[in-house]
Amino acid sequence: MLDQATNLRKRINQMNRSKEAKTIAVVSGKGGVGKSNFSLNFAITLSKMNKKVLLFDLDIGMGNIDILMGVQAKQTIVDLYEKELSVYDIMESGPYSLSYIAGGSGLRELFHMGEKKQNFFLNQLDELILKYDYIILDMGAGASLDTMRYVLASDEIIILSTPEPTSMMDAYAMMKHIHYYDHGILMYLLVNQAQSNKEGEQTTKRLQQVMKRFLQKDIIPLGILPKDKVVSKAVLTQTPFSIFDPKAKITRALDELVAQYETGGIKNQNNGPSAFINKLIKFVKER
Ligand SMILES: Nc1ncnc2c1ncn2[C@@H]1O[C@H](COP(=O)(O)OP(=O)(O)O)[C@@H](O)[C@H]1O
Ligand SMILES: [Mg+2]
Repeated sequence: MLDQATNLRKRINQMNRSKEAKTIAVVSGKGGVGKSNFSLNFAITLSKMNKKVLLFDLDIGMGNIDILMGVQAKQTIVDLYEKELSVYDIMESGPYSLSYIAGGSGLRELFHMGEKKQNFFLNQLDELILKYDYIILDMGAGASLDTMRYVLASDEIIILSTPEPTSMMDAYAMMKHIHYYDHGILMYLLVNQAQSNKEGEQTTKRLQQVMKRFLQKDIIPLGILPKDKVVSKAVLTQTPFSIFDPKAKITRALDELVAQYETGGIKNQNNGPSAFINKLIKFVKER
């Protein structure tokens, strides 16, 4: 079974892979905390710094990024499978040469399709790993097993929470869930929609404390983004907020956060050559 996947894995492990994309999954407990807005504007801010960034919309059926960016994807991952297209055929281009792929229901299907199609897709994905600096996965709400596999395959996870106790509880539940499957995975915490810096810091501290106390897990504070009316104004005009208003409070906070993330020397875990693809192959085999 899955000899082709084994071949792909061998090929990956033997290749001289000097450069590989870092894969980052953006998750939260419940919906509506700001994952899609953050993913998109985080991706754009990295793109502005001349990084090659690919944004994957994994929110099945909702097409969030499409709406936020005002760019309608003509094809999705489903078309890639069905018509044997290349990833470049289904890719859209956003601001600052940001690349964007709409997942549709296609990513979930990876775990429920024939071997030939699986290998076709995994090979396509591996091309992307070699071509980009960052691959950002905007996850939908909830944690179905199939979407969780993409989260668990990622190099890093960014968990969003707002300061609301319900949101914090949901973020904690999600972190616990992820930790259950993988104790070693790198988790960042981003507090979004903070009314003040102090409120953001308190939220960060509480979540760090519970994670340490109950799960002995260190999470890394990524930063705090304020609640800012600019976000909904930008959404209404279908323009990412960082482009809609480059001087807005939230945009400046995001610029600072990204600069720190990029240069701040938070050490990469070395997960080995194409850890992302290797883990997906493993999940496909375990299914
Ligand atoms: N920092 C923020 N300040 C103000 N409103 C925000 C902020 N982040 C998100 N929002 C609002 O929250 C809503 C949900 O955001 P969205 O990015 O779609 O969340 P998710 O992807 O987690 O469901 C949007 O309507 C947006 O206007
Ligand atoms: Mg979303």
